[in-house]
Parts: sequence; structure tokens; C-alpha cells
Amino acid sequence: MAGGVSLLRLLVLYFVLAESVLRRNVGQERWHLPLTCCSGYQAWAQRVTTENSNLVVNEFDSIVLSCIIHSSQLKHRIEWKKLNAGTDFVYFNKHITGDLINRAELQGDSSIKIFNVTRKDTAVYRCEVVFVETGHLDEVSVNLTVQVKPVTPKCSVPKSVPVGKAAILTCHEHEGYPPPTYIWYKNGVVVPPDPKSDPKFFNSSYKINDNTGTLHFSVTSKLDIGEYHCMAINRAGQAKCEPQRMEVYDINIAAIIGGILIVVLVLLIISIVIRLAYKRGYFTKKQPANRYQASCKADSVDYVRSGPLDAEGDFRHKSSFII
Ligand SMILES: *[C@@H]1O[C@H](CO)[C@@H](O)[C@H](O)[C@H]1NC(C)=O
Ligand SMILES: *[C@@H]1O[C@H](CO)[C@@H](O)[C@H](O)[C@H]1NC(C)=O
Ligand SMILES: *[C@@H]1O[C@H](CO)[C@@H](O)[C@H](O)[C@H]1NC(C)=O
Repeated sequence: MAGGVSLLRLLVLYFVLAESVLRRNVGQERWHLPLTCCSGYQAWAQRVTTENSNLVVNEFDSIVLSCIIHSSQLKHRIEWKKLNAGTDFVYFNKHITGDLINRAELQGDSSIKIFNVTRKDTAVYRCEVVFVETGHLDEVSVNLTVQVKPVTPKCSVPKSVPVGKAAILTCHEHEGYPPPTYIWYKNGVVVPPDPKSDPKFFNSSYKINDNTGTLHFSVTSKLDIGEYHCMAINRAGQAKCEPQRMEVYDINIAAIIGGILIVVLVLLIISIVIRLAYKRGYFTKKQPANRYQASCKADSVDYVRSGPLDAEGDFRHKSSFII
């Protein structure tokens, strides 16, 4: 209450002084007064400010959340709060607390330096200063945005596509913040958003969505054969996937019909052969026991025939038996 009254007195004094100064100055007009008054009043009342109320920093870098107290000779108490889902203390009772412990320190009188910011530090931070004698509270907020580099995107490129058909190449990454945009490369060259803008891609028909990472060929042609890879980019960095080859093949109708005819022909021949074999009784005769007998017979015949030539006959018999 006492503080409020003295504030009012000072204000009135300020008005009177300013007005008398202006009156003395020739050429200064009265309507300048409110302007002088209010900007002066504001600077006087705002005892706590920041150098930057909108900080953007890359993950794992360090950053200072600045809080400047203009009447620091007055006895005061400082608190820092993190305003996300709830309100957490960051600096309280002259100590760093919460999840910034061991990662931050007070810098100067009232600023906070975070050594290694993580994506979880993205929040609005508020520096609150209580001037002990008057009980007056002043505060300033700092909006901290932590940017995250993209990780290697997941890319999908069809291995082979028939000429004239559609093909969809996709690329996606989910860590980067702000969300990355995507660029496609063919054989190491950027695929332009508009094929008509580049003679190399002039006869291709595709659309690129650089926000979703899709490269959509509505009608593929042999011109589209190549190694494709994609890059995810945001302000914090970039990452790319390995090139993958896309083939485009002809569908030759004559060849397909020819192929079908050959298959039909082969099946026909096989069935004829099987039928013939069946008619001649190969299937009923063929039994393991019979086969063994037949081979024995052949051996004995061989043996008998070569009977006179003793040693040679024996040898032949053995060899044919082995075979
Ligand atoms: C920063 O923190 C991350 C994990 O939060 C850690 O992997 C990295 O090593 C830290 N970097 C430094 C310089 O302390
Ligand atoms: C903080 O800044 C980011 C961008 O830098 C903005 O999108 C967001 O709305 C801001 N938050 C507040 C509470 O001002
Ligand atoms: C594109 O097609 C046109 C006509 O079909 C042809 O003259 C031109 O050479 C082609 N361009 C490329 C790069 O293949």
C-alpha cells in the first residue's frame, strides 16, 4: 500500500517536471507530453526484462535464458518456473531444481544457463522477481524452442514397375523438429518439384509432396529408371537414406502369349507321354522287386556269356555289378 502511494507521488512529480521542461523549450508542443510520459513510465515500472523472449536452439547446444533485473540494488528474491503441462520450479530457494539439475546453473544475478538442452526442455520459462521490501512482484517469460535434427528417414522405392503403371516412392522421418521437409534425388540429382522445369525430367510425369515425402509417378516410363534416395531437412540439420534402384520393365504382350502357348504345349506333351506310358503298362510293371530280378538276370547272362574267358569274365561281372 505504501509502495503504491509513493509510486503515485513519483508519477505526479514526473508529470509536473516533464511539463515544465517542455514549456520552457520553444517549439515543443504540449501533445508530446503523453508520449514522453508513457514510455518513461513503462521503462520505470518494468524492472525485470529479458534479452530475448523467443529463443530457438538446436538440441544438445547450450542456451541462456536471460532475466535482467533493473533495480537489482533493491532486495529481491528470484524464482524460475517452467510452464508446460503444469508448472515446475526450475530455480527455487537459490538452487536449480527439477530436471535441469546438473544441466544448468545460474548465470549472473538471475539468468539461467542450460548446458545441454534436450527436446523436453521446449517450454515457456518464467523469471519471477519479488522485491522483498515492497512485496512487489515482477516477471518476464522466455519461450524456448528446441530444434531437433532429423534422423535417417525410412525410404521405400519399388524395385520394378511395369511401363505405364503408377509408382509411389515414400520417405519419412519422425524425430526432427520442426517437422522436416523432403527432397528426392535421382542418380544424385535433385528431382525438381515440376518436371517441366528441367530438360532431364521433362518427359517424366510425377508429383512431389515435400511435406509428406511422397514421390508419385502417375505413369512410369523407361526414363524413370534410376537410383533414388531422399533427404529430410529442417533448420537443425538433415539426414538421408541409402539410394535404391527402381527398374521399369516392358510388358510385351506377344512374349506373354508366346510364353503361355509354350507352357500349354509342354503340358500337352507331358500328358501324352504319360498316357502312352500308361497304355504300355509301365506303371503296373514297375515294382522294386521286379527291377532287382531283372538286373540279376542281366548279370547272370553276362556272366554265362563270358564264361570261357575266366579272369576277364569275372572282372566284367564285378564291374557291371558295381555299376
Ligand atoms: C547431452 O545429453 C545427451 C542425452 O541427453 C547426451 O547423450 C550427450 O552426451 C550430452 N552432451 C553433452 C555435451 O553433455
Ligand atoms: C513459442 O515459440 C514457438 C515458435 O518459436 C511458437 O510456435 C509457440 O506458439 C510459442 N509459444 C508461446 C506460448 O508463445
Ligand atoms: C521427350 O519427348 C520428346 C518427344 O517425345 C522428345 O523429342 C525429347 O527428346 C524427349 N526428351 C528427353 C529428355 O527424353
